[in-house]
Amino acid sequence: MHERSLPSETAPARGGLIGWIDARFPLTQLWRSQVSEYYAPKNFNFWYFFGSLALLVLVNQIVTGIFLAMSYQPNVHLAFASVQYIMRDVHWGWLIRYMHTTGASLFFVVVYLHMFRGLMYGSYKKPRELLWLLGMLIYLCLMAEAFMGYLLPWGQMSYWGAEVITSLYGAIPWVGSSLEIWIRGDFGVTQATLDRFFALHVVAIPLLLILLVAMHLLALHQVGSNNPDGIEIHDHLDPKTGKPVDGIPFHPYYTVKDLVGVGVFLIVAAIIVFYAPSGGGLFIDPNNFQPANFMQTPPDIHPLWFFTPYYAILRSFPNKQFGVASLAMSILLLFALPWIDRHPIRSIRYRSWAYRGAVVLFGLTFLVLGVIGMAPATLFWQRLGAGVALVYFLFFVVAWTYAQRPTSRRLLTTLAAVFVVLGLLIWRFYLPSIAGIIWRTSLIPFAYALLFLLVPVFFPGLLRDRPVPERVRMR
Ligand code: HEM
Repeated sequence: MHERSLPSETAPARGGLIGWIDARFPLTQLWRSQVSEYYAPKNFNFWYFFGSLALLVLVNQIVTGIFLAMSYQPNVHLAFASVQYIMRDVHWGWLIRYMHTTGASLFFVVVYLHMFRGLMYGSYKKPRELLWLLGMLIYLCLMAEAFMGYLLPWGQMSYWGAEVITSLYGAIPWVGSSLEIWIRGDFGVTQATLDRFFALHVVAIPLLLILLVAMHLLALHQVGSNNPDGIEIHDHLDPKTGKPVDGIPFHPYYTVKDLVGVGVFLIVAAIIVFYAPSGGGLFIDPNNFQPANFMQTPPDIHPLWFFTPYYAILRSFPNKQFGVASLAMSILLLFALPWIDRHPIRSIRYRSWAYRGAVVLFGLTFLVLGVIGMAPATLFWQRLGAGVALVYFLFFVVAWTYAQRPTSRRLLTTLAAVFVVLGLLIWRFYLPSIAGIIWRTSLIPFAYALLFLLVPVFFPGLLRDRPVPERVRMR
C-alpha cells in the first residue's frame, strides 16, 4: 500500500483507529483546520448563536422529514388522510410531525436573526460578499422548500396557497402563462403539482441545501468570521505562533458556548411542540385542518408568517405585474446589499446614529410588513402595506447614500429624486382613490425620506461615524 505522510507537520503520529483512518482520509487534518485550530474572534456575542442553530434545525428537518416520508402518501386522494394517520396511528407520529412543522417556523426565526446579525455587523462586506450570496441562495432554497412542503398535507391553505403563489408566475410578461402551467404541471394545482412538489421537497431541494450550506461554511472558513466590532482579527497576528491575537480556537471555546444556545433553543422548541404546536395559527394555519376543496375558496388566503412580509409587498400595488416585480426586487436588493452599502466601517457599533436608526427601523419594517401580510386584504391594509413597503425599499436608498459619505447637497439631491419617484407612484396607482386614510398612509414613505435625508442636513452630527478601535473589544 502507498504510505501517505502525516497530515500536519506538527501533528504527532496517531495510532489506533484514528491513525488508521488518517493514513487514508484527512480526518484529523480536517478537524484541526475546520474546528480545533479554526481561530474565531474572541468577542462573539448572542447574535453568533444562530449559525449553529440553523445547522441544528437543518438536521432536525432532514431526520424528521425522512420519518414522515415513510408514512406520507403523495396522492391527492390520500395525502390529507395519511397526515391524520401519522398524527393518530403512527407511533410518535404526532411528535415527529410537530417537530417538523415547528422546525420549519423556527428555521425562519433563526435564519432571520442570522441575517439581521449580518446586517448589523456588516458581515456581507468585503471579503465576505460570496459568503453572503451563498447565504441568500440558501434563503431562496429555504423559501422554495417551505412553500412546496406546505402543499403536501393537501389542506385548504395548502391548496389555495399553492394556487395563488403559482399564479404569480402568470404575471411575468410574454412567458408567464406557459411558465405557470409548466410549474404546476397542469392547468391547475392537481396531482401533477403534488407529484413534483413532493419530489422537489423531499429530494432535490434538501440536497441543494446541504450542498449550499457546505459551500457557505467553506467560504466562511476561507475568509474567517467577522465579529461585533467588524475588525479583521487576521490583521493582528502573534509573531511567534502566527495565530490571530484576538482569536480563540473554535473548539472547545465556541462549541461549549454554542451548546448553551442549543440548550435554550431546545427548551423553547419543546415548549412549542408540546404546548402550542400550531402556535395560535402562526405555525399551522387553522384552515389546513380541513382537506383541500377546489370548489370552496377560504375567505382570507395568506401564507405562513415567514412569507407574509413579502406577501404584503406583493399585494401593496393594485397591479399584479407591479406587485410581482416589487416582490422580486425586495429579494434582489438583499442579494445586492454588499454593493449597495459600501461604507468602509462594517459594524453598526461605529456607524452614525442615523444609520443605526435606519437599520433598526428596517428590522421593524420587516416585522410590520409581516403583520400587514397576515391581515385581511381590505383597502386599508393594502394601502398601509404600500406605505410600509416603500419604507422597506427606501432603506436601500438611505444605506447607499450614507455609504457615499454624503454632503448636504447630495442628501438634498437624493431627497428630491426620492420625492419625484414617490410622487409618480402615487399619481400612477393611488390618485384616483386618494381620500382619508389612504392619503395619510402615502405620507409614511415621505416622512421616512425626510427623517433620513433631510434631518441630517440640519443636524450633521447624526451622520458622524465613531472611531473604529485597532483591536476587538470585550463587552
Ligand atoms: C440553513 C441556513 C444557514 C446555515 C446552516 C448557516 C450557517 C452558518 C454558520 C454555522 C455560520 C458561522 C457561525 C455564525 O456566524 O453564526 C454562518 C455565518 C454566516 N452566515 Fe450563515 N447560515 C445559513 C443561512 C444564511 C443566510 C440566509 C445568510 C444571509 C443571507 C447567511 C449569511 C452568513 C454570514 C454573512 C456569515 C458570517 C457572519 C460573520 O462572520 O459575522 N447565512 N452561517
